[in-house]
Formats: sequence, C-alpha cells, structure tokens
Amino acid sequence: MTDIEMPRPERIGLEDRSSGRLGRALSHIRQRGLLEPVRLVRRHGLGASLGFVRRNVRHILADHLARKWDRRYGVDTAGSIQLDALDVVGPHRGKGNEAVCTSPRTFDFIMRSLPRDLRDYAFIDIGSGKSRTLLLASLYPFSTIIGVEFARELVEIARDNIRHFSDPSQKCRSLSVVEGDAAAYEFPEAPLVVYFYNPFSKDVFDIVLKNLVSSLEQQPRDCFVIYGSSSHRAIDWARPAIRSTGMFTELPVPPMPRFLDAVRTIDYAVFRIQAASRR
Ligand SMILES: C[S@@+](CC[C@H](N)C(=O)[O-])C[C@H]1O[C@@H](n2cnc3c(N)ncnc32)[C@H](O)[C@@H]1O
Repeated sequence: MTDIEMPRPERIGLEDRSSGRLGRALSHIRQRGLLEPVRLVRRHGLGASLGFVRRNVRHILADHLARKWDRRYGVDTAGSIQLDALDVVGPHRGKGNEAVCTSPRTFDFIMRSLPRDLRDYAFIDIGSGKSRTLLLASLYPFSTIIGVEFARELVEIARDNIRHFSDPSQKCRSLSVVEGDAAAYEFPEAPLVVYFYNPFSKDVFDIVLKNLVSSLEQQPRDCFVIYGSSSHRAIDWARPAIRSTGMFTELPVPPMPRFLDAVRTIDYAVFRIQAASRR
C-alpha cells in the first residue's frame, strides 16, 4: 500500500456531484437563514423532508467511507462523475450513466454467489469507470481482470489506480482497461464473469448481450453474468433480456443488505451458463 496523493477529479476538471454535499447544504442554510429547514418541511411535508435528509446522510457517509478506502490504497475511485464533459469513444455517450462505483461490501456480498475456484475465469467489468470493481476483483483468484470504459479521463485514472493498488491479499495481478465502447467489445475466449453495474441504457445493453451470446455460441464456455442496478431499476429490463436469450439460468441469490459504504442498495441478479450442459 502507498500513501501517494492521487489527483482528485475536480483538480483535473471532472465534475464530481458527490463531493461537498454537506458544505453545499450548510451554505444554503447560511444564505437563506436558520429557518430555511422549517420552511422546507412546511413546503414538502415531514415524511418527504426526512426521506431527503436520510438519503443525503447516507450519501455523505458512503462517500466518506469511499474516500477513506481510496486513501488507504492511494487510489482515486470515489465520487459520482458526470459524463457530459468527458472525452468519450464511440456513438453512445448519451446512453451512458454517470460513473459511480460499487461499494466494497456490496461487491464482496455479490461474490458469495460465485464458486470459490475462479482461477480459470476472466472477470470483465463492462463500464469500469475509475476501476474500483477491478481492484476489488483482484482480491479474488481470477485468471485475468479486464475493464471496458469509453471515457478517456476515467481510463487514465483507472490505469493509474491499477499501478498504485497493492494489497497483501491480492490474488490476481493481471489487470487492464480497454478504452472503447462496450458495444464494440469482443469478449476473450476464457470462461467469463461479466459484471454490469448500471452502465448504460437498454439499447446498448442489448448490443453487448448479443455480442456475448454470439461469442458463447462460437466458443462454448462457462459464463456468469452479474447485473446490478440501483436508482434506475434497470434490473427490470435487464433480467428479462438475459432470460430471453434462452441460454442462461438465473441463480437464487439472497437480497442485498443495506451497507453503510453503499450510496444506494443495489438490486442484483446472477445468471450462469455451463458449457457442459449445452453439449
Ligand atoms: C455506474 S458506473 C460503474 C462503474 C464500475 N463498473 C463499478 O461498478 O464501480 C458506469 C460506467 O459505465 C461507463 N459507460 C457507460 N456507457 C459505456 C459504453 N457504451 N461503453 C463503455 N463504458 C460505458 C461510464 O462511463 C461509467 O464509468
């Protein structure tokens, strides 16, 4: 582990909506006066106001824990980075979702649904952002770990993170990021764990899924697909899309607990295809 100070996104011109929430709230109250919270409760009702405060407290806490995790490893993975100002490869900028990362506890919880022996599997994070998930996956014994990301600035940060990250329990050291549109990505010919955390809208997902299915048809092999979604409820269309391929079996998984380090509790589904079952 290193203590190297990584450039924060705002220093290199990235818009991070998660930082400074508390400061913005306090300055709002300073500008409008101490009675502003009372006015807001009157305007929106007590229930809605408490919900708003709860969501923000959760966000601030999760963001604090994310930045603490970053400091521990000398990396920069936290925040919610808007795509508008980024240099994006391919035609799907408007279909992509902001870069927010999977929390460590959420990731470890999802990983419990996979077998322990992962040494033949390549882990592919579709829409890998600043690489948090790639770094977390390296604590598991994958043969290789690949992120696919279309925003150049995020790819650069991710590659820096990979260079700096080190943990005594790291089990996979073959980590890389492909800069490109996920819709044009060709999957490697190894058994796969393909991870999606809310990266883009359904039309892009359909293309990626079609490419995955055709890769698995050409070269039958084991594959897990993990789909996680939060506020957008993308799971509602991703699950039927994956089922409709007729290739994958959905595994029973426990509901996701509310973890303090997660900005949002995600809904997730895990699917499996076994090459042997298709022969
Ligand atoms: C919600 S973030 C997920 C980050 C990471 N997978 C994680 O779980 O920590 C979604 C990411 O997908 C990327 N993305 C969106 N559309 C994409 C596309 N068509 N090709 C590649 N990456 C894309 C965004 O830039 C963003 O970094």
